[in-house]
Amino acid sequence: MDTITSAHGLVPLSTVATNDQVELDSLPLELQLELKRLKDDFTVDSKRLKHIVSQFQEELQAGLDKYGSNISMNATWVLGFPSGTERGKFLVVDLGGTNIRVCWIELRGREEELLITQDEFRLPDELKTGEAQPLWDFIADSLETFIAKHDLGGSEEEPLQLGFTFSYPCHQEYIDHGKLVTWTKGFEIKGVEGEDAVGQLREAMAKRNLPIRLVALINDTTGAMIASSYTDPQTIIGAIFGTGCNGAYMENVGSIGKLDTQLPQDTPMAINCEYGAFDNAHTALPRTSYDVTVDEESPKPGEQAFEKMSAGLYLGEIFRLILLELHGKGIMFKGQDVSKLREPYLLDTGFLSGVEHNANPGMLFDSPTRDAFKQKLNLDISDKEIVFVRRTAQLISIRGARLCSCGIAAICKKKGITSGHVAADGSVANKHPEFKRRWAKAMAEVLDWPGDRKEDPITITSAEDGSGIGAAVIVAMTLKRAKEGNLAGIREK
Ligand code: BGC
Repeated sequence: MDTITSAHGLVPLSTVATNDQVELDSLPLELQLELKRLKDDFTVDSKRLKHIVSQFQEELQAGLDKYGSNISMNATWVLGFPSGTERGKFLVVDLGGTNIRVCWIELRGREEELLITQDEFRLPDELKTGEAQPLWDFIADSLETFIAKHDLGGSEEEPLQLGFTFSYPCHQEYIDHGKLVTWTKGFEIKGVEGEDAVGQLREAMAKRNLPIRLVALINDTTGAMIASSYTDPQTIIGAIFGTGCNGAYMENVGSIGKLDTQLPQDTPMAINCEYGAFDNAHTALPRTSYDVTVDEESPKPGEQAFEKMSAGLYLGEIFRLILLELHGKGIMFKGQDVSKLREPYLLDTGFLSGVEHNANPGMLFDSPTRDAFKQKLNLDISDKEIVFVRRTAQLISIRGARLCSCGIAAICKKKGITSGHVAADGSVANKHPEFKRRWAKAMAEVLDWPGDRKEDPITITSAEDGSGIGAAVIVAMTLKRAKEGNLAGIREK
C-alpha cells in the first residue's frame, strides 16, 4: 500500500483530458494508478510516431531491394490500375478468417453497376490448425456446390475464370502462383508453408473435375486497391485494418531492385507490402508487457510484430490480458470467478468498441457494458470498473489507430504521395466508430499537415469489397493482357 500512498497526488489524470474527467477522478486510487500506468505504456506521441515511420520507410525499401527482408514487399504481377472498362463474368473464392466466400461477379465497366451473387461457407474451426488436404477439399467442395447451385456451367474448353483471394504472405513468381511464406492471423495449417497454395487448390479442383481455371492469386490489400480504383481514380493505396493489417500500393518495376524481369522500368506493379511484419526485431515499436505476452503465446512468436499491436485479432486480447492481470492483483472483479476471462481470444474488436462506446458520456450507470460483461464473461462489473474499462479500451484502440497510420504514412513519404484515397477494408476500419478520426489525426501529426487545412489531403475511403470485386477486376486485367501478348508473370497453361 506504501506505493499507492506515496504516489497519491502524483496521478496526473487531468492530462487524460476527456470529458469524463469527473468520472476518472472519482475512481478509487488503485484504479487511477493503474490507468496512469496504462496511459504511459500505451501512449505513442508524435515524436515516436515519426521515428516509427522513418524506420518503416527503411524496411519498405529493404524489402524492395532484397528477398528475405523483414517486410517482404511481394511482387503481385498486377501491372497498373484498371482502366474501368474491364468487363466479363468471373468466379472468386475468398479464404477469409472465419468463412469461405464464393462469388460470381459480372463486371460491366465503371459506368454501370456490377452484379454479384455470393454464398458463404463457414470454415470449421478445426481446419485452421489441421492438415492441408481438408482445407483444399473444403474450398473445392464449396466451389462445386456454388457452381451447381447457381448453374454456372463451364467446360474444359470454356472454363470459369477464377480469382483466388488468399490473404497471407505469399511469394509469387507468377500471378497464378503463391508460395506461402508463413501463416498469420492464428492459422496454422500443416503442409502449406513453403508450398504453392495455388498448386494445392488446383489439385483439389482437378480431383473433382471442376470446369474452372485459376487465373490469379490475390491478396486482400491488392484487391482493395484495385476494386476501388476501378471506380475511383484517386485511389493510391489499398489497406486492410481488420483481423490482420497490411497495405498495397503501386510501384515502378525499376524500383523493385530484387525483381528479375524484362518489363520496362516504368511499368507499374502492385506491391503487397506484408507490413504486419514491421519491426519484428523489436527496435522501434513501444511494446508493453501485454504485447510481449500476446506474441509469446501466439502460434508464431517473433512474427507480425506490428500486426500484433494494431490489428483487430489482437486488440481484444490485449484488453483481456490487462483485466486478468488486474484481477490477479486483487484490483478488479474482486472475489469473482474469472474462468471465462481466462479464455484466450474470447474478446473481439466488437466487444472492445462496445465497451468504449456503449456509455452515455458523463453517466456512471452503463447497462450495455454491464450486460456485455455478464453475458460474455459472467462477471458483475461495478460502475467504477465500467469507467476504468472504457478508458482502457480507448487507450488500446487509440494506440492501434495511431500505429495504423504509420504504414500508410511511410508508403506516402517513400513515394512522395501527398494526396489521394486509401481504400480500406476490415472490421477495425468499418466497425470502430472512432478509428478513422484517430487515424487521420495521427497522419496529420506524422506528415505535418497544416492546422488550418480545409480538408485532409489523404483520406480513408471504404474499399469496394476488395476480396471479391478486386479479385474479379484483377482476373479481367490478367486475361486481357495475356490476350495482348504481355505474359510477364503469367504461366502459359
Ligand atoms: C496477412 C496479409 C493480409 C492482412 C490483412 C495479414 O496477416 O499476412 O496478407 O493482407 O493480414 O488481411
